[in-house]
Amino acid sequence: MAFDKKKFIEEQISLAKQKIGDKPALLGLSGGVDSSVAALIVYKAIGKNLHPVFVDTGLMRLDEAKHVKSIFDKLKMKIEVIDASEEFFTALKGVSEPEKKRKIIGEKFIRVFEKYAKTHGIKVLVQGTIAPDWIESGGQGRDTIKSHHNVGGLPEKMGLELFEPLRDCYKHEVRILAQELKLPDEISKRQPFPGPGLAVRIVGEITKEKAQIVRKCCHIVEEELEKASAKKEIEHPWQYFAALLPSKTVGVRGDERSYQYTIVVRAVRSLDGMTANFSHLPPKLLEKISSRITNEVSDVGRVLYDITNKPPATVELE
Ligand code: XMP
Repeated sequence: MAFDKKKFIEEQISLAKQKIGDKPALLGLSGGVDSSVAALIVYKAIGKNLHPVFVDTGLMRLDEAKHVKSIFDKLKMKIEVIDASEEFFTALKGVSEPEKKRKIIGEKFIRVFEKYAKTHGIKVLVQGTIAPDWIESGGQGRDTIKSHHNVGGLPEKMGLELFEPLRDCYKHEVRILAQELKLPDEISKRQPFPGPGLAVRIVGEITKEKAQIVRKCCHIVEEELEKASAKKEIEHPWQYFAALLPSKTVGVRGDERSYQYTIVVRAVRSLDGMTANFSHLPPKLLEKISSRITNEVSDVGRVLYDITNKPPATVELE
């Protein structure tokens, strides 16, 4: 059966009115398409009683807080930005096991939300959770592929009631809703970004230095692929980014030996993220990305391209 976008939006607005009523609600807004669509639906239901909060974990894309704020300013929705980066880095110090990292991040988000909720008398948390998030998080006979921060990463004890209007949607349906709700293309067509952010693109222990490196590399990959796609040199990938491996490798800079980090570039085609095929990027473009990364990001000495599909790999490295 075709996805009836208008009916879906109307149903969720009335459900939000029914479940939230005239109570204030907090929404974790990342600026991605899922949380942005959830924000607009609930805003239509409860108006200014919705408190959209952007948590800066220190693991976000380059200039993300500023970018998201400026988009929502234009939509006349006021966003609260909370800088919790020190808290996240401290909690993640010394942790390298992927599931442990995800659980810590999920819990930290909730603690930050609870703190905000307490000072504003809020009891309801709205999340932009979609179907792949809970399917991959396991339970009900399913294996845990990875605990998505907003599902399997939620702490057992939480002082907030959840409302998740997009729980049964897939990404391509959320994009349809985004267009119906007249969200700008920079949101509705934006590539997905995982809730735990760059944490799942730093294999092993997270440090501020590694976050800085991978953030710059992601930005270069985004710039180059978006340029190539705008010139129609490539088919626009569904998702594209850089990830940092924990091992350093030997190289040579000028006449001197170097020993620096390794970056993995990943670009995939997909419909809903449940399966994916790596993009066949032209060698010239890969060369451009590699030379920009090794020239512009100090401490990176080697760049690899990931040629694995999902399955057997996943899209993100952790
Ligand atoms: P994987 O790596 O599981 O990714 O193949 C599938 C899609 O989900 C995104 N992803 C997440 N999104 N919270 C999210 O909101 C998470 O914890 C999470 N983990 C992965 C990933 O970027 C890809 O688009």
